[in-house]
Amino acid sequence: MTALQEAPTIVIRPVAGHIGADISGVDIAGPLAPETVQQIKDALHKYKVIFFRDQQLGHASQIAFGRQFGPLTYAHPHDEAPPDGYAEIFTVDPRRYEKRYGDDFRKQVRRRRYSYFTGWHTDVTAAVNPPAVSILRADVVPEIGGDTQWTNLQAAYEGLSPAVQAFVDGLRAEHRYGGPDSGLSRNATYSKRIEDNLLVAIHPVVRVHPVTGAKGLFVNPGFTSHIVDVSASESKAILDLLYSEITRPEYTVRFRWAPGSVAVWDNRATSHLAPTDIEHLDVQRTLHRVTVIGDVPVGPDGRESELVAGKPFTDKHVVVVDD
Ligand code: SIN
Repeated sequence: MTALQEAPTIVIRPVAGHIGADISGVDIAGPLAPETVQQIKDALHKYKVIFFRDQQLGHASQIAFGRQFGPLTYAHPHDEAPPDGYAEIFTVDPRRYEKRYGDDFRKQVRRRRYSYFTGWHTDVTAAVNPPAVSILRADVVPEIGGDTQWTNLQAAYEGLSPAVQAFVDGLRAEHRYGGPDSGLSRNATYSKRIEDNLLVAIHPVVRVHPVTGAKGLFVNPGFTSHIVDVSASESKAILDLLYSEITRPEYTVRFRWAPGSVAVWDNRATSHLAPTDIEHLDVQRTLHRVTVIGDVPVGPDGRESELVAGKPFTDKHVVVVDD
């Protein structure tokens, strides 16, 4: 058994005004002292996304690192082929989607209605219990381009005027795979996969963070289909307003990957944007993600999210494949 590391002197350096911190002075490949884990968790709750560089993680040690934040989910609601022996690992590499869903998959997903929306999302909010934390490790990354961006959904909420905060505090929204702004429904094979593994939930539009008690917006263009109990045009107008708020540059941070980089984000307080600037370059970009099983969101009125279709997303997830 590997010995626990002595509590190292970790250095936490914020990197942007509202979100993000670099953490150095710690090797996350081995088991960490409890006080180090607590320091890392505290930094995560404060800065929402934390970055480690030059780490030596493989699948097993990434899973072990992830488990220090809580039990992990299965790889992804639609991924039937995680690496052998590592059911928790979701490999992010567009070549895998093209193999599965056809050459046009990426093009179809990119053709979106919102001019400012190019893929902002919070992981798996179609589940009634979206992952609490996501951990992404760079394996092969391009020399130019390929950055990821994150936005602080609590800062976006705090930036609203009090009257608008009070208004959105009482709203709820449906989240599903293949919603109108996801672009996913344009691919027939992927649409079938979504139908066969239907996952739909209704979440509060404002989520109270279970650890810090802070309020944050909890809608994202990737999964939110509509605001419930309002008309379609009202829903669109409200979501337009909220999406323009959550994508304001001042709430974001951008991360330049290198092999061995690891990003850990609080999926209860952030949305993120995968890169869109490498489509035309013939480059490989392969990263591996694990996600920590999440709790059921609660709104400012104390009401929990509701499951509409599917099951809570856990390690027991089974993907139905009927292509
Ligand atoms: C993800 O959405 O989890 C992946 C982000 C990325 O590829 O940069």
